[in-house]
Amino acid sequence: MAPQIKYTKLFIDNEWVDAKSGKTFETRTPSTGSVIAKVAEGDKADIDLAVAAAKRAFHRNSEWRLMDASQRGRILNKFADLVERDAQYLAELESANNGMVLTTAVAFMSSAVKSVRYVASLADKIQGDTIPTDGNTMTYTLKQPIGVCGLILPWNVPVLMFINKVTTALTAGCTVVVKPAEQTPLTALALAALLVEAGVPKGVVNVVNGFGPGAGVALTHHNDVAKISFTGSAEVGKLIQQAAGKNNLKRVTLELGGKSPLIIMNDADLNIAVPYAANAVFFNQGQICIAASRLFVQSGIYDKFVEAATNYAKSIKVGNPADASTQNGPQIDEEMMKKVLKYIETGKKEGAKLMVGGKRVGCSGYYIQPAVFADVKDDMTIAKEEIFGPVQSILKFETLEEVIDRANDTSYGLAAGIFTTNLDNALQYTRHVEAGTVWVNAYLVGGVQSPFGGFKDSGIGRENGMNCVDSYLEVKTVVMSLPKKF
Ligand code: NAI
Ligand code: MG
Repeated sequence: MAPQIKYTKLFIDNEWVDAKSGKTFETRTPSTGSVIAKVAEGDKADIDLAVAAAKRAFHRNSEWRLMDASQRGRILNKFADLVERDAQYLAELESANNGMVLTTAVAFMSSAVKSVRYVASLADKIQGDTIPTDGNTMTYTLKQPIGVCGLILPWNVPVLMFINKVTTALTAGCTVVVKPAEQTPLTALALAALLVEAGVPKGVVNVVNGFGPGAGVALTHHNDVAKISFTGSAEVGKLIQQAAGKNNLKRVTLELGGKSPLIIMNDADLNIAVPYAANAVFFNQGQICIAASRLFVQSGIYDKFVEAATNYAKSIKVGNPADASTQNGPQIDEEMMKKVLKYIETGKKEGAKLMVGGKRVGCSGYYIQPAVFADVKDDMTIAKEEIFGPVQSILKFETLEEVIDRANDTSYGLAAGIFTTNLDNALQYTRHVEAGTVWVNAYLVGGVQSPFGGFKDSGIGRENGMNCVDSYLEVKTVVMSLPKKF
């Protein structure tokens, strides 16, 4: 049974409101393509109201600004408890709106709860330094919240993205306007309701659904927004970087795409490497920024690996995300499905060898059978562009030195991995590969405790980790003259 949809309006200043224009847009479930809700469509007028509410909530005399830091942490911990209480419902809503396999959505809810608790624990540990300057001064630093933050979310892991960004901003003491992805507004609205139930004061969190060119652009150009945190495409990331410098000077955190290289050396244990490599690119239907979408396999094991990877992909069960036995659900929408199918056609045309999959499954919903391409060359489109779908591209290499240069020959630098039983290989690769996260004999494992972000065009800044709050803080140096020494 489909989960109940309780919230479809905009959430501004603690009120559920229609868009000023009265407009709504349809939201669909990717498992069948049918409309499951009509959601208020915010644009500039609604962003203006939401930013004004967030600005009032950030005033020096506001309840939020006067609140003890420990109390902010307490409210966020209460929020974690509420997410835990409603985890099954939130997972069902996430699965219905995003098409994510339900078992994956359930696992993400438990990661989300851990994330909130980890970050919230930092609320009363934001502290500066005392500094021994030259001269007769008492010098110290204060770390203070930046102000109103615009948080622009993608559709691929909506709950986790909302939680990571909102919780970090609130822990720092900022106020926020969230713009969920147009494909997946529903869980963001449900989470806003939980934040209020947890005790977050009026205006601190606002959610404006809508599209990039409307609500998104208005938020990134707004003069009263001090910072934008964005996860999404590199193309829009660059637009946001430009918008951030147009009126006021906004701080930006950008978490963008990738074309992450995974290296399998001759000495790797194939029983481990084959399933890991498959999961690394097929997980969540390939809709993850860290997908290992360039799989470099050393020549000595190449043929054997391709055969095993093909058999593995064949065995993946594609189907209804709500079924417990389903491994891969649908792509997010018709546009993304068509985009991925087009990449598969291009791969074939440019001479890569399609070993298995690559076809649409069924005629309702947006399902694609996981595809394995062998004999992929570095200059082929499927080896260069982010596909964001279930497409494994296998490339052959001879030496580690050669493959490090090939792995780095991309504008992206988000993640990387290597499977080897030789320590020197692992050390050389982890040292030289240009990526924000590198796995050795593993992939995709980790959590909120580790810093996450990209080199090069994969982004700016880091999220998660002990220092996650820093990008929502300004450092103020206070210099006080001391009485003359005696
Ligand atoms: P997108 O980057 O266009 O959308 C992400 C978010 O940005 C959405 O909330 C959207 O409404 C908003 N947005 C779009 N244009 C904007 C603008 N000019 N100003 C402000 N906000 C704007 O991503 P899209 O179109 O959904 O997917 C395109 C490609 O992006 C995918 O094929 C994939 O390669 C990549 N992508 C990467 C993600 C990641 O996790 N790094 C997540 C989603 C997509
Ligand atoms: Mg787009």
